Amino acid sequence: MKCGFNMWWTAAILTLSLTYGSMVHAQNPAPHLKQANGRTQLIVNGKPFLSLAGELHNSSSSSLVYMERLWPGLQQLNLNTVLAPVSWELIEPEEGKFDFSLVDGLIRQAREREMKLIFLWFGSWKNLVSTYAPSWVKKDTKRFPLLVNDRGEKYPMLSSFSEEGRKADGRAFAALMRHIKEVDAQEQTVIMMQIENEVGNDGGKRDCSPVAEKAYNSQVPADLVNYLSKNKKALKPELKALWDRHGNKTKGSWPEIFGNESACNEIFMSWYLADYIGYVIEAGKAEYDIPMFVNAAIGRQTLKQGSYPSGGPLPFVMDIWRAAAPELDMLSPDIYYGDFDYICQEYTFGGNPLYIPETRGGNDGAMNAIKAFCNYGAIGFSPFGIENSIRFATGNGNNFAQMYATLNKVAPLILERTPGKDMLAVVADSVGKEYSAILGNHRIDYKTGRGNEKGYAAILQMGPNEFLVIGRSIQIEFSAATPKKDSIMGVLMAEEGDYKDGQWIAERVMNGDEIMRDYDLSKLYKRGKSGTGLAFGELGMQKVTLYTY
Ligand code: DGJ
Repeated sequence: MKCGFNMWWTAAILTLSLTYGSMVHAQNPAPHLKQANGRTQLIVNGKPFLSLAGELHNSSSSSLVYMERLWPGLQQLNLNTVLAPVSWELIEPEEGKFDFSLVDGLIRQAREREMKLIFLWFGSWKNLVSTYAPSWVKKDTKRFPLLVNDRGEKYPMLSSFSEEGRKADGRAFAALMRHIKEVDAQEQTVIMMQIENEVGNDGGKRDCSPVAEKAYNSQVPADLVNYLSKNKKALKPELKALWDRHGNKTKGSWPEIFGNESACNEIFMSWYLADYIGYVIEAGKAEYDIPMFVNAAIGRQTLKQGSYPSGGPLPFVMDIWRAAAPELDMLSPDIYYGDFDYICQEYTFGGNPLYIPETRGGNDGAMNAIKAFCNYGAIGFSPFGIENSIRFATGNGNNFAQMYATLNKVAPLILERTPGKDMLAVVADSVGKEYSAILGNHRIDYKTGRGNEKGYAAILQMGPNEFLVIGRSIQIEFSAATPKKDSIMGVLMAEEGDYKDGQWIAERVMNGDEIMRDYDLSKLYKRGKSGTGLAFGELGMQKVTLYTY
């Protein structure tokens, strides 16, 4: 990357003004994670923040000129956060000589649009390989050895057994974090960091270079066996089952403790990748401690072993990652395929905070966003290749942009609620099927609202008998979770409206055709139903108060 004169001055002014700024103003604590109301909150500028994000294509953020053209579209999508790669090769083109002009430019551009950034540190690995390492690293395979497979073939991947690799990556990442602290600790445009990207190697395989082979046949590090023993009851069940099956040994080589099978390769690779990445994270956090996560390629076969890169931060090896990289804040799934709910459940195991850095957008993205936020307490959601959504961003056609606009307005309400306790997302994906769910003292019956479209809604409890519902293409009825004879719950008052600056602004009062779902009053009485409920076509918000007669 070339750093022009103007760019240099912009960077210098940004650095100076923000360094001065941070000296004269009282400062909020750095972005961090906090436990409140039985959930994790991401605190930015002293307040809980719901990250409504999109991730850029891999090469977009390598050019400020290119990015300048994208920002208006990103704004139209109603994002409040952009996930943007920052690569090792561009910030340290020569060893020890750093160039942060691109980082400063991205921060400046985001601030001009009042958006936050999550930087993706493309350092030693990006999707298995090491294409983002600087050329002085790539070309020196003596100093920075590569991974070798079981047939002796070398891959363009730094070996996670390389001491020089971790030190060089750690030094670069530390310099980046030091710089971000200098220019951004006050404003907090950069809210989190992703370290590397979808690491691992061939499914079920391991590094077979001489140093890796030696490690494989040596004692499993005491730190790992101590962690397993200490946390035995809380371990991920599949890992515990494997350790049990091999006799819960605390001494021995990797195959002796975990068995000579592909799962052992995965555990072994996870430890050495996590240990390396944990070192990089520690180096960065020593400079500027903001939340840091790693992301996983989870394969197309819903977490089936061998179908994803070996050693990545998958649920099966969650404990290995936690043991090797204690400073890591969370393990994040990239969810393109499979059962969205199952994957969210796996990635919230043991209180792991949920941030989904890569997923699909569109109407399914809108639906999955409310599921992630309202059912799994996610702190962020981010479709990949967000630029692709821009051309659909305007008008009523973009369900995803509309959903983000709505979520922006109600984010404080979501952030103070607990999934399953006073907040729930529901999805009706089969036409004609009747669904039901329980939220506290209420039963919620729902079905699709129109045509062949999937219906979905976020339901937020606002009072004992009051709910705010954000819905699209769905019909919803409320009744008592424990029905009583001769006591029927119905809609007392329903308003359609909007949230502006945290205040409910009522618009239409919904009655008549808009709330009457059924007129068969005798049949309804026998079923303990009122026949009243809410109906949504296009995405909207309604506030409902219920009563019992
Ligand atoms: C997953 C990777 O993490 C992304 O960086 C990108 O390469 C996508 N795959 C492409 O689909």
